[in-house]
Amino acid sequence: MPRSDSIIIKFVAVLQLDCNMNWVNKMNNFVELPVTKLEGNPFHMIGDEWMLITAEKEGKVNTMTASWGGFGIMWGKNAAFIAIRPQRYTREFVDFADTLSLSFYDNSLHKVLGYLGTASGRHEDKIAKSGLTVAHEDGIPYFAEAKTVLLCKKLFAQQFDENNFIEKETIESCYPNKDYHILYISEILKVLVKE
Ligand SMILES: Cc1cc2nc3c(=O)[nH]c(=O)nc-3n(C[C@H](O)[C@H](O)[C@H](O)COP(=O)(O)O)c2cc1C
Repeated sequence: MPRSDSIIIKFVAVLQLDCNMNWVNKMNNFVELPVTKLEGNPFHMIGDEWMLITAEKEGKVNTMTASWGGFGIMWGKNAAFIAIRPQRYTREFVDFADTLSLSFYDNSLHKVLGYLGTASGRHEDKIAKSGLTVAHEDGIPYFAEAKTVLLCKKLFAQQFDENNFIEKETIESCYPNKDYHILYISEILKVLVKE
């Protein structure tokens, strides 16, 4: 085959890949899905399997496990809701950055999520110890070992106000130290899933 023909064929092949909505991050074997095609039950994904909240501040990445939060629609946008207690080191990263990721893992990594939910990045290099590999998509940090990643842009942050709890027992049961969560609502910009 003449060399020019082979170049044209390669060019067409690359063009087809680029036109395919499912091709995004070939290196880490992730594909991009429309948010509406996200599969999974959020009660199970967040409440049972847990997720990692990851953000970057001045070149440093931190992450923490979370089992409270949700997905839905807010202000006409696909949105994710997370709640972070003020003393978490990750809170400094989430407050600094405009973006963050929420990532989900196979059961084989559940123990790792347990560790990332008890150790603090303030006191140890917990990401290095966890064995997870930091990756970036559009400048947003996540981990290559994830099975699903939501790349998010912050829209809103507000700490829960004690006066606004209608069920007052929640204050006693969840906030004996008055460390009220900060609610972050973020727009889900992209969903990546492992191929
Ligand atoms: C299963 C599980 C779920 C958790 N969910 C949350 C949560 O939703 N919000 C929160 O502020 N902390 C939550 N935590 C606690 C943080 O993950 C934990 O304090 C972590 O060590 C914070 O790390 P950092 O100081 O590096 O940010 C959870 C911990 C575990 C083990």
